[in-house]
Amino acid sequence: MQKIQLKRERIYQGSLILVNSLYEYRERRGIRLFPASDEAKEILMEEEAVQMLHRAMMDINGWKDIVPVSGWRSRMEQQRIWDDSLAENGLEFTKTYVAVPGHSEHQTGLAIDLGLKQEKIDFIRPDFPYKGICQTFRERAVEYGFIERYPKNKEAVTGIGHEPWHFRYVGVPHAQIMKQERLTLEEYIVFLKSHQYGIRPYIFEEQGCRATVSYIEAEGNVTTPELETYNPKTDTISGNNVDGFIVTSWKDEEHRNGGKYERKDK
Ligand code: DAL
Ligand code: ZN
Repeated sequence: MQKIQLKRERIYQGSLILVNSLYEYRERRGIRLFPASDEAKEILMEEEAVQMLHRAMMDINGWKDIVPVSGWRSRMEQQRIWDDSLAENGLEFTKTYVAVPGHSEHQTGLAIDLGLKQEKIDFIRPDFPYKGICQTFRERAVEYGFIERYPKNKEAVTGIGHEPWHFRYVGVPHAQIMKQERLTLEEYIVFLKSHQYGIRPYIFEEQGCRATVSYIEAEGNVTTPELETYNPKTDTISGNNVDGFIVTSWKDEEHRNGGKYERKDK
């Protein structure tokens, strides 16, 4: 256990950052990117997200029929996609399916578009149906920390059209909680504000794994409240990209991330 102080700049880092039309992604150095699959070396994702994606795919033998279509994008690449789509498809379509440059989750390395393996794959709207192997992935990926980020009937909340192919890594147990509570990431960030750190943490329990999730508001410009009992082996901290931090504390080390993620720096 140790006492740590969270720097305000950490608000903009971590697997729970909310990136949408209101909250821009702040680019930072040092993000480690790896190929999403052995066959698609040019499609990249952030380290933890990619490891969890591999595990989910291994679990369902997914790479046999599923291909990664788009992963990490630089802001410049997002701009190029926006410009091309605008010229080809017009503003209405582009606003619906392409995030404004600077505001795309793809810039974080935490998002991946997946497509059913077939001869022709649409880059902006790949096929990823609600049946067969794609649906199996959609259901199983939750326990590996992935959510379908832009669901149907939540367009007004997310600001993006229904995208059955776009998955976002938020981590475990957040994906399960969001599914259980039927929340988008926008709604989850608000929901957690009623689970203040040290006062009323959200308790997650599944198959013997137990974690608490709570929110700490950032105060002032440089530093924020101290965490009195931070344990790097069992606790993770993510910014929300809005106004604070989310602390996830596992009961013990093996249960961290539902026991699915192995940290290399242990
Ligand atoms: N298609 C998603 C919204 C993006 O461009 O980030
Ligand atoms: Zn996408």
